[in-house]
Amino acid sequence: YLPVENVQALASKNPKNIPSRYIRPEIESDVVSADESLQIPVIDMSKLDHDDEQNKLHFACKDWGFFQLINHGVADEVVEKMKTDAQEFFNLPLEEKMVCAQVPNHIEGYGQVFVFSENQKLDWNDMLFLWGQPLHLRNTRFWPNNPPSFRATLDKYTMELHKVMIQLMKLIAKNLGTDPEMLLSLFEKEVQAIRMNYYPPCAEASKVVGASPHSDASALTLLLHVNEVEGLQIKRDQKWVPVKPIPGAFTVNIGDILEIMSNGEYQSVLHRAVVNPEKERMSIASFHNLNMGSQIGPLQDLVKTNKALYRTVPIEEFQRWKLTSKQDGNSMISKMKL
Ligand code: SIN
Ligand code: FE2
Repeated sequence: YLPVENVQALASKNPKNIPSRYIRPEIESDVVSADESLQIPVIDMSKLDHDDEQNKLHFACKDWGFFQLINHGVADEVVEKMKTDAQEFFNLPLEEKMVCAQVPNHIEGYGQVFVFSENQKLDWNDMLFLWGQPLHLRNTRFWPNNPPSFRATLDKYTMELHKVMIQLMKLIAKNLGTDPEMLLSLFEKEVQAIRMNYYPPCAEASKVVGASPHSDASALTLLLHVNEVEGLQIKRDQKWVPVKPIPGAFTVNIGDILEIMSNGEYQSVLHRAVVNPEKERMSIASFHNLNMGSQIGPLQDLVKTNKALYRTVPIEEFQRWKLTSKQDGNSMISKMKL
């Protein structure tokens, strides 16, 4: 673990030259899709009792690994309050945010992603990482009490997103042909983590990366775009496809755990975040994982006729691997593939 600089503070000094550790020679040659019509599927949660929408969901999970979820049933007030409280937190002076600062070797709190070597490239991002569920994992030492409503807002938000995840899992179980009751029981006491991302503007935006290409280790991730600034891109057919967030929607993606559980039927897709030259960008990711004490591996129902493509390991071991590896590509999937 090596400490790195606060990016918001660095950006506010408006440096003439961005430190070289942020500069990515590879990014400029990356082709971003010019095909404006290429967009991730949109799933309407209020229509998911219809076969068409249910099939659309299956296709989205299988073919894209990403979709936008509209009419998800979480009240606007809850979502809006989460956005404004998160914005207020990141707008506080640095010393006040540092009350929630990470401590060495722990991911929780306000800080940056782990860095393992002096020459590792850095992301143009500050984050606030918190465990949301189960309650005993919450370490309030890292939970801001400024703004004063932050904790109550986050408490409500995490519970509402847990419910959305459960609804989606029920439909995913049907689509995968596994028993919904059995699948839901694996997620009822899930480990849920929240990562709030702050990407300051960068004069050399086209040379830095907000979040390096990675796939999520979670089962499902529900991402909220806090402001109107785009930045999320997903890898599809060797190209980076920008996501155009629909106001009020969650961007949902399949993570490594669900790819593994589905025995490869669903894909955990590489994605990254780019930075805007003039505007700050913020997003809030809610990562949904299995219950503590679960095993991660292909679902038994799905390997009766097909052979298992991934190993089975305790979730604690999986999490340990994840936290001690670089946020880089599909590292967990390669570790788990048989
Ligand atoms: C991430 O997937 O790590 C970041 C997503 C985003 O900020 O859009
Ligand atoms: Fe991600």
